[in-house]
Amino acid sequence: MTTYNFDEIIDRRETDSIKWSKKYLEENFGDEDSLPMWIADMDFKVPQPIIDAIIKRAQHGIFGYGHKSDAFLEAAVHWQQKRNGWSIQKEWILFTPGIIPALNFIVETFCRPGDKVILQSPVYYPFAKIITNNGCQIANNPLVLTDGEYKMNFEELEKIAQDSRTKLMFLCSPHNPVGRVWSYDELKRVGEICLKHNVLVISDEIHSDLIYLPHRHIPFASISEDFKMNSIVCTSPSKTFNLAGLHISDIIIPNKTIREELNHKLAAIDIDPGVFASVAQIAAYHDGEEWLEQLLHYLQANLEFIEKFLRERMPKVKLIPTEGTYLAWLDFRALGYTDSELQQLMQKNAKIALDDGYIFGSGGESFQRLNFACPRETLAKALERIEKSLNG
Ligand SMILES: Cc1ncc(COP(=O)(O)O)c(C=O)c1O
Repeated sequence: MTTYNFDEIIDRRETDSIKWSKKYLEENFGDEDSLPMWIADMDFKVPQPIIDAIIKRAQHGIFGYGHKSDAFLEAAVHWQQKRNGWSIQKEWILFTPGIIPALNFIVETFCRPGDKVILQSPVYYPFAKIITNNGCQIANNPLVLTDGEYKMNFEELEKIAQDSRTKLMFLCSPHNPVGRVWSYDELKRVGEICLKHNVLVISDEIHSDLIYLPHRHIPFASISEDFKMNSIVCTSPSKTFNLAGLHISDIIIPNKTIREELNHKLAAIDIDPGVFASVAQIAAYHDGEEWLEQLLHYLQANLEFIEKFLRERMPKVKLIPTEGTYLAWLDFRALGYTDSELQQLMQKNAKIALDDGYIFGSGGESFQRLNFACPRETLAKALERIEKSLNG
């Protein structure tokens, strides 16, 4: 067994990382030395088998066009069976160079300008941009926060879904930024409402391997035959194994008609996995599980570290329980700052780069999102800076 050292601090500054780019930090957070705890990638090295596979492929020395090989697709099939007990077929998988491109292609394919797409704010902010950039309307069904727990508003969802212009629902499962892992009953209700009103469910499951016990991820399409035929499940090894810069996603579409429609669009622009993306996915899904199990332990301990730190040193800042993802959703409402005051405090006083809650849409005001996929020493530094800025 390999023991991975997640405490290792690795300098990412000169590696074209947007998270650590001095220029980006200066322009967007007001200081090139801001401590970056924002965008969702990790400050950890990937599993050794992935590094080995990429080196081996690099040493071959020829990097012509790649393709969606059987081994690439079978790796995704294997992973769904192993982690989620979901049997899929390799023919169901389409490739896109990321989930954001996939969501764009999906809206372009299945909506006409003026159509509505459901999202549930606060939610991963590119969803809104994808909808409006394609001339569509956002049909927002805000999540409801009661006693520190986010729930879906099913009555409102049904009303929105009834509108004949509502064509798609973007389901974020698990939900970034609030950290919910939706239960079987919640997913079932979403599925039933969407089925009844002919709304296609786009289930973004990019964070689905990052789940803390006792929670369990349920692939939306695995719930019933009807849901399987009325959904597109977006998956990727990128969050799980820290491969976002390799641009890989596996878009699972069991319904042949829907799949062919989307594939028609993708075929026209001819996109296939790059050669490094191919070997990375194969190595990740076949040989990355041992690393992932160790990562989950480390992330869980980071989460406990945050909880303890807040409880003991910043009791007015509340952590919404994180059931999945490596993103902590911090509630600053009790401190009474406006969003711009809170932003100033984090950027100017704490010198820390977080994602402001309001960018995730209504309900995100007075929250901050903190990416805790980093060595504990970095996390401690970030929390100490926040504490100091609040005290100052
Ligand atoms: C819910 C969600 N979907 C999609 C993405 C981005 O996906 P990709 O990098 O594959 O385009 C992210 C990244 O943070 C995310 O949180």
